[in-house]
Amino acid sequence: MDIEKTEKRALLEIRETTSKKELEKIKKRYLGKKGEISEIFKFIPKANPEERAELGKKANRLKAALEKELKKKEAELKKKKKKRRVKSFDPTLPGKRSVSGTLHPITRARKKACKIFREIGFSVVLGPDIESVWYNFDALNFPEEHPARDMQDTLFIKQEGNPPSEKRLLMRTHTSPVQIRYMEKNQPPLKIIVPGRVYRNETTDATHEINFYQLEGLMVDKEISVANFRAIITEFVDRFFGEDVEVRLRPSFFPFTEPSFEVDMSCSVCKKKGCSVCSNTGWLEVLGAGMVHPNVLKNAGLNPKNWQGFAFGMGFDRLIMIKYGIDDVRLMYGGDLRFLNQFRY
Ligand code: DAH
Repeated sequence: MDIEKTEKRALLEIRETTSKKELEKIKKRYLGKKGEISEIFKFIPKANPEERAELGKKANRLKAALEKELKKKEAELKKKKKKRRVKSFDPTLPGKRSVSGTLHPITRARKKACKIFREIGFSVVLGPDIESVWYNFDALNFPEEHPARDMQDTLFIKQEGNPPSEKRLLMRTHTSPVQIRYMEKNQPPLKIIVPGRVYRNETTDATHEINFYQLEGLMVDKEISVANFRAIITEFVDRFFGEDVEVRLRPSFFPFTEPSFEVDMSCSVCKKKGCSVCSNTGWLEVLGAGMVHPNVLKNAGLNPKNWQGFAFGMGFDRLIMIKYGIDDVRLMYGGDLRFLNQFRY
């Protein structure tokens, strides 16, 4: 009879249980009427007289040790149960308001613009942020000495040596290069829009940022005219601003379109009466556009004798600033929650 071994085993069992039911079973197994300890006590009178005293002492010590450990465990389990009860779900308590984020105004404007254009049959296409000089400038008919290519306006990627324009890399300064990329791989008729981030090497102020978001549009088919452009852009502006807006075209210049226009919309703040937002003109400039230059079609592998179309480009930041009367583009990128939380609904 190894009392020490029994003690070790019993203590371990007690310590390791995690339920009250199990603890009861252990208690019965060792201290019950027919338990192991009762068996030991029953055995003592039959033992050698010399061993009896020693056995008795050991058995009593074992009993006391087990009783102590059992009590300890009982208390521990009771405490645990209480704790659990506090944690449990009480449906009568008032709920905790959870803090949720909101979509950035630019994200929302992008989603809305893409939805409107999809509904009038345009596909949404994306292009790379890191672009080659070829796609960003050459293919778009920018003359070699055009000031936009200047280091002052364009963020060039550091490269070894003097790579040719197809390999010379920069951060795209507009979304227009995607026109070429798309026309190279897809035959007209085509109707696409390209939302995306663009980069400029600029000093920031209330109307300039080093990066911003544009929406490019391109429609090419056999007989696309300025009238088609006018109809589509009027539809877009009406739906985006949620009201009847007047649109007017002014002659302008872009290397990749001929003729080119600047597109204005009637001021949604003062309804053409004149206010500070439109500098008292009643009109707000919203985008650049034009009929795709024959050289651009050629550079993308299309025959300008067979195809023609229009293209346009607008800044999301500008659209949002007009829509909400925001006077500083830097607010858009500052991450200030006081600004961002206003776009919650
Ligand atoms: N890419 C021009 C810019 O960043 C915007 C633009 C103007 C795009 C006229 C066009 C366009 O497609 O036809 O300023």
